[in-house]
Amino acid sequence: MGRVQDKVALVTGGASGIGLSSATLLAKEGARVVIADFNVEGAKEAVNKIKAQGGEAAGIFLDAGDETSIKEAVEFTVEHYGKISVLFNNVGATNLKKDLDVVNMDLDEWDRLMNLNLRSVLLGSRFAIPHMIKAGGGSIINTASMAGFFGDSIRAAYGASKAGVVNLTRYLAAQYGRHFIRCNAVAPGLIFTPAAQNNMPPAVLDIFAKYNALPYHGEPDDIGNTVLFLASEESKFITGQTIQVEGGHYIANPTISDFEEFMKKKQG
Ligand SMILES: NC(=O)c1ccc[n+]([C@@H]2O[C@H](COP(=O)([O-])OP(=O)(O)OC[C@H]3O[C@@H](n4cnc5c(N)ncnc54)[C@H](O)[C@@H]3O)[C@@H](O)[C@H]2O)c1
Repeated sequence: MGRVQDKVALVTGGASGIGLSSATLLAKEGARVVIADFNVEGAKEAVNKIKAQGGEAAGIFLDAGDETSIKEAVEFTVEHYGKISVLFNNVGATNLKKDLDVVNMDLDEWDRLMNLNLRSVLLGSRFAIPHMIKAGGGSIINTASMAGFFGDSIRAAYGASKAGVVNLTRYLAAQYGRHFIRCNAVAPGLIFTPAAQNNMPPAVLDIFAKYNALPYHGEPDDIGNTVLFLASEESKFITGQTIQVEGGHYIANPTISDFEEFMKKKQG
């Protein structure tokens, strides 16, 4: 008996990184999984791998920036597998070139990121909730980010959209808990996904490593395992929470690693 046996999960952005890890782990633990992604070839590849491992999955096209496309993904899930028990709203994007500081950012990019990162969570949930209510409950899981908790020199739109995801998670939990629907989020720190590796030069990755409490980077399965837990009944009394999975990057006084270097130099 798997940890999410008999559940049906829709994973958005499931062809790569965090979504792919989550879809794979959910299928391994008994869920039937719909992988919905802009990269439909990638989604189909993921499905083939899951099936080769004895799991059950289907791959479909999704544009998470488009309301109709999100509605179709939810409807496909319900028609194909009979219900939707888990919705993982995972698609999100960042743009290091256009999403800058408040004065210099591209305003069209602000709108695009709010739509893709935040409105998509609202819409996926809005379309899935009536089906979940009919079925007697469900679990909605959203991908936030540690960028939703802190300020930074650039990416104001990304950070604001992810902060929105954190509080929308609470609203969803508050509004639908009485229908046995839980809603939680996961806030990754830097995770070594294809996106992170493509976006960030090695020097920037080194800066992140310097400030982690743990001496290694996060991997997609670190988030996938958290999603699996939130999808399963093991977390049945947890709702409205955002679980921070970030290697202890943000837990200490931000000067700690500079202070350690200072002490080493002083002693040596
Ligand atoms: N990787 C990190 O360090 C990190 C940190 C914090 C938060 N996140 C968040 O995690 C989520 C997943 O990121 P990832 O690192 O796994 O990225 P990724 O690029 O590895 O995977 C993202 C997937 O989403 C798909 N996608 C992109 N735009 C889409 C759209 N409009 N419609 C449908 N699918 C679309 C891509 O094709 C890809 O398969 C995002 O919400 C991101 O903001 C990532």
